[in-house]
Amino acid sequence: MIFDRLSERGTRFLNVKYPIISGGMTWVSNVALVKAVSQHGVFPVLAGGNLPPDAFEKEVDQCLQELTGPFAVNLITIAPNYKTQFEILLSKKVPFVVFAGGIPRKVDIERMKKVGKKTMSFASDESIASQQIRFGIDALLLEGSEAGGHIGHVSLVILLQQVLFRFDQVPVFVAGGIAIGRMVAHLLLMGAAGCQLGTRFAMSEECTAHPDFKKTLMRARARQAIATPQYDSKLPVVAVRAIKNKGTEDFGRLQLRLLRELEEGKISREKAQYEVENFWMGALRRAVVEGDVDHGSLMVGQSVGLIREILPMRDIVENLVREAEEELIRIKEGLDGKLAHETS
Ligand SMILES: Cc1cc2nc3c(=O)[nH]c(=O)nc-3n(C[C@H](O)[C@H](O)[C@H](O)COP(=O)(O)O)c2cc1C
Repeated sequence: MIFDRLSERGTRFLNVKYPIISGGMTWVSNVALVKAVSQHGVFPVLAGGNLPPDAFEKEVDQCLQELTGPFAVNLITIAPNYKTQFEILLSKKVPFVVFAGGIPRKVDIERMKKVGKKTMSFASDESIASQQIRFGIDALLLEGSEAGGHIGHVSLVILLQQVLFRFDQVPVFVAGGIAIGRMVAHLLLMGAAGCQLGTRFAMSEECTAHPDFKKTLMRARARQAIATPQYDSKLPVVAVRAIKNKGTEDFGRLQLRLLRELEEGKISREKAQYEVENFWMGALRRAVVEGDVDHGSLMVGQSVGLIREILPMRDIVENLVREAEEELIRIKEGLDGKLAHETS
């Protein structure tokens, strides 16, 4: 298969059948989802979110016991429980770590590598990419602002030109808005080592997110998955892409309240930012775990508009791989035909 040949760098790095990563999603990427993707040749990422130490350790141990293949744990460097999760993970035989949320420090990358883990982090522009490579990161993730959850400002099309086309020292995996195999094929042709998908795997039968959360996603259009604005630079907030609902308005009100309190000197900037992060963790839980689709946070990528069905994981993966191969054959035949025509 052409797809297999193009996948070599990514599959060698991840040590799975396909160069496809199921991105870590707080409250969504639990042991059940991790197991389901792993069984079908996709690279799984367990989400650390802001899980308290006991729950975090339990999930990590369960993955170690129940998975036969490799997996990563996603650590959010700005989460209040980051430091404790980091130390727990350091002592576990988990082969990969994905640093998310903020830029990991050199010492954090080095400590993880020292105990034999492969490290991955997000590069939201070229200076961060070259810094992370200097710090010794083993692979980069480029996530465009089309993605779900906490996002950067730049779309994937720009990041491809800014980072993917310029850095070859480490494998680069790309994410944000990817839902079909045809797109995966083109990204591999552009030089991506592989693709990370989030929303597509959240919309699987095996994903244990609340049925009302999944039902809402199934009906959503791409344009409904909007990014939250930052009202004032006095309170820097990371944008979150989610389907607009009452929870989005609650967040607007929270920002206004925190800004007022900041101006009145009643709260520090750190405390305000902490409250913002706490809000998202809680709101996402309400939607994903409790099924409150009105006030919870319906974090999804714009890719939600490309996905109309909740499918078994087997079908999702088979479709991705088949569509990618068909596209590569179509391109090859098209080029062969064109070249034959030109030389005749
Ligand atoms: C509900 C939800 C929660 C997410 N939580 C995290 C997270 O905790 N850590 C992280 O690195 N990325 C997180 N993401 C981003 C995904 O890992 C992935 O990169 C993104 O969903 C890709 O875009 P797509 O959904 O269009 O495929 C989250 C995405 C969603 C939809």
